[in-house]
Amino acid sequence: MPEMDGAQLCSALRAHSDWAAIPFVLMSTAGERGVIRRMLERGACGYIEKPFNVEQLVIMAEKLLSDHFQLLLKEKERLDTERSLMIASITSLVQALEARDVYTRGHSEMVADLSVAMATEMGFSDEELQTMRMAARLHDLGKIGVRDDVLFKPDRLTEAEFSLIQRHPVIGAEILGPIPSLAPIIPGVLYHHERMGGQGYPEGLKGGRIPLPARIIAVADTYDSITSERPYQARTGKDKALQIIEDLGGVQLCPDCVAAFMRCIT
Ligand SMILES: [Fe+2]
Repeated sequence: MPEMDGAQLCSALRAHSDWAAIPFVLMSTAGERGVIRRMLERGACGYIEKPFNVEQLVIMAEKLLSDHFQLLLKEKERLDTERSLMIASITSLVQALEARDVYTRGHSEMVADLSVAMATEMGFSDEELQTMRMAARLHDLGKIGVRDDVLFKPDRLTEAEFSLIQRHPVIGAEILGPIPSLAPIIPGVLYHHERMGGQGYPEGLKGGRIPLPARIIAVADTYDSITSERPYQARTGKDKALQIIEDLGGVQLCPDCVAAFMRCIT
């Protein structure tokens, strides 16, 4: 060939990151053993002999595709395992964080159970339910980045301290941000303190602009907070808590999520 020979072409393709993973097949005459060997050494995946035979080409393509598919399957399994390990580590971190404070112990797990029950009621798919559980488990992950003297302060918080606490959804999203496979859970974490009327944080989103998983977490989070004992708040009984949630529907909490919550808790 005028520009480069087959072996040089193989080397050039393998050296280019966009093409390196694509399997290449060479076509040559049976007598060119040396050429064939050189090209296989330089990354060609197989060869077919001239004269050109479609059947031979189809068999070769099928073999390469099946080898490639096996590799992709293995890679997917590896990524799935890596992802589960990562989620397990982050979940342990959140549990360790909550365990330091008697008032928040088990909170995220409870919020996760409630959120998944509501999402099931609302017809989420299995994959969406998995994402829902992870987002709910990790919704307060960002509290890791809030100073202990503020996080565990037994007295009322000053305005400045409260604004530090209010950074936790953004901190949580920033922690998860660099991990591409966890991207689907970020909206639930980042927006779980938004309110239907737009008075929430961090962005003051309104109504349907708040992602659904975040609206679901908000209901579960509010219910678990008011039914748990807190330093400045006695535990609210179930009936009263349900009344409070009902009243917050449409004002602070998503009415559809509140309705789903009522269906699964009563
Ligand atoms: Fe929170």
